[in-house]
Amino acid sequence: MMLRIPNALTKTQVAECRAIIDAAEWIDGNVTSGHQSREAKSNMQLPERSEASRKAGDLILRALEHSALFVAGALPLKVFPPLFNRYAGGQLFDTHVDNAMRELKGTNFRIRSDLSATLFLTEPEAYDGGELVVEDTYGTHSVKLPAGDLIIYPASSLHHVTPVTKGARVSSFFWLQSMVREDAARGLLFDLDMATRRVAAEKGHKDPTVIQLTGIYHNLLRRWGDS
Ligand code: NI
Repeated sequence: MMLRIPNALTKTQVAECRAIIDAAEWIDGNVTSGHQSREAKSNMQLPERSEASRKAGDLILRALEHSALFVAGALPLKVFPPLFNRYAGGQLFDTHVDNAMRELKGTNFRIRSDLSATLFLTEPEAYDGGELVVEDTYGTHSVKLPAGDLIIYPASSLHHVTPVTKGARVSSFFWLQSMVREDAARGLLFDLDMATRRVAAEKGHKDPTVIQLTGIYHNLLRRWGDS
């Protein structure tokens, strides 16, 4: 399931984030690549675990904790600290699948990447190209969103970023391990959650149907979830 989270960051938070990272030193993006993607990628990145990266990453994670849609859709268990990239002058990222396991260098923090996330930090009018293209069983999805919007998609998907031919595209990207490993199961829980909320908005939280649906949700989560 692909899920768009509009305004994951407010425009003010986007500006704050950009102020931190734009002032920092960027390096060749191939430092985070696995063997296959090393040949496919040309972009710039903020060094992992640099002060700017950590500061801007914390800002993003704090904002996401308050996003009900993000929490409902991703059911996050462990989130890899956000990274930052910049594409300009024809830079691109050819078709690849993200690594299944991600380790934070120098620590024992490790996640299985169930979901990949891209947070757009540049307004779409400011650059040409730079679409994130994700392939799944339903076809090909091209994504280019306003600054502050987040897209999450199964990390198992083939995806690429088209060349940025004008301007520069700055984004944050990260992976997360979900409490629910299987995309289909996570999608069902999300649909059930959204439907229950609609019924609750109409009938109130004490309505017997709402209570029963909430119970079913948690019992499915208990069956499918890891902690
Ligand atoms: Ni990728």
